[in-house]
Amino acid sequence: MHSTRIVEMLEVTEAAALAAARWMGKGDKVAADQAAVEAMRTAFDSVSISGEIVIGEGERDEAPMLFIGEKVGAGGEEIDIAVDPLEGTNLTAYGQSNSLAVLAFGPKGTLLHAPDTYMWKVATGPQAADAIHIDASPTENVRNVARALKRPVEDLVVCILERDRHNDMIAEVRAAGARIRLITDGDVFGAVATSIEGTGIHLYMGAGGAPEGVLAAAAMRCIGGCFMGRFEFRSPEERARAEQMSDLDLDGVLDMDCLVNTDEAAFIATGVTDGEMLRGVKYFGQGSRTHSIAMENKTGTVRFIETVKRAGAEKFWVRMD
Ligand code: FBP
Repeated sequence: MHSTRIVEMLEVTEAAALAAARWMGKGDKVAADQAAVEAMRTAFDSVSISGEIVIGEGERDEAPMLFIGEKVGAGGEEIDIAVDPLEGTNLTAYGQSNSLAVLAFGPKGTLLHAPDTYMWKVATGPQAADAIHIDASPTENVRNVARALKRPVEDLVVCILERDRHNDMIAEVRAAGARIRLITDGDVFGAVATSIEGTGIHLYMGAGGAPEGVLAAAAMRCIGGCFMGRFEFRSPEERARAEQMSDLDLDGVLDMDCLVNTDEAAFIATGVTDGEMLRGVKYFGQGSRTHSIAMENKTGTVRFIETVKRAGAEKFWVRMD
C-alpha cells in the first residue's frame, strides 16, 4: 500500500462525512445514511484502484450501492475494501458524539467477509495487547489490562454499548472496580479509542455488529492494539446464511489474523459529529473543515488530518487551530 492511496481514500471518507453531517440533528437517520452512502460511492469513482466491497451496506438484493461484492474504483491494484459510510446513524440524526465515516482496505483476499450478525468483541491498545482474550471473563480482562497499564483497576475506563444484553457485563465491570463509558451507538469508535491516548478509554467489551468488528480490527492491526471476536447468531437463519458465505469455523475465536490477514492494512475515519477521537464536520459558509485519522500498517504511520475545502470560488483566510 502506498501513502498516496491514503490521500485518495481520505477523499472518500471526507465526502461521506460531509454529506452525512448536513443531516446532523435532523432526526432522520435513514436520510443521513443514504447521503453518506451516495457520496462515498461517487467518491470511489476517482480512486485509482480495482476495489471489491467485502464489508458494505448489505447483500446485492438489499443494498443498491456499496453492496457486498460490488466493484469500485477507476482501475488499478486489486484490493478488498470494508466500508461503513455512516457508523452511528442515530448519533448523527440526534447530534450526539462520535459518529464517523469509516473504511478499511487491504490486498485482495485479506479482509474477512463477515456475515451480518453480531460479534462479541474485546479490544485494547498496544500496551495491553497481550492482556485480553475473548474467552476471559470481564473481570479477568479488566484486571489484566489494569496490570498491563500499571494502574489500579479504579483508574481504568471500559467502553460498553448500552444494551440489555450487556447488563450482566456492566454489573461485573462495576463490581470489579472499573469505570464505564456507556455509549448508545458506534462501537468502531469504542474499540479504536482504546488505542488512542487522550480518549480516556482503555478497554472495549461487548457485542455489536460483526462488520463493524472487521473495521475496528483493521485499525487495531495498523496501530498495534488487539481485537478479538466471536460470532453471535440471533437466529438459525442468520447462522445458515453465514454457513453459505464461508467455510470459517463459525464458533471459533476470531483473532486479528482471521479478521485482517495482512501486514498491509489501512484504516481511515472522518468525524461526522464531535467526539473524543475526532472533531466533527464544520461548515462555515465559505467552506468546510473535516478531521480524520488515517493509519497504515506497513509504514507504521498514523496521521491526524485536518482538511479545509473551499466552497466554489469563495476565498477566505484559513485559521490555524
Ligand atoms: P448504525 O450506524 O448502522 O446505526 O450502527 C451503529 C451500531 O451502534 C454499531 O456501532 C454497532 O456495532 C451496532 O450498531 C450495534 O447493533 P444494535 O444496535 O443492534 O445493538
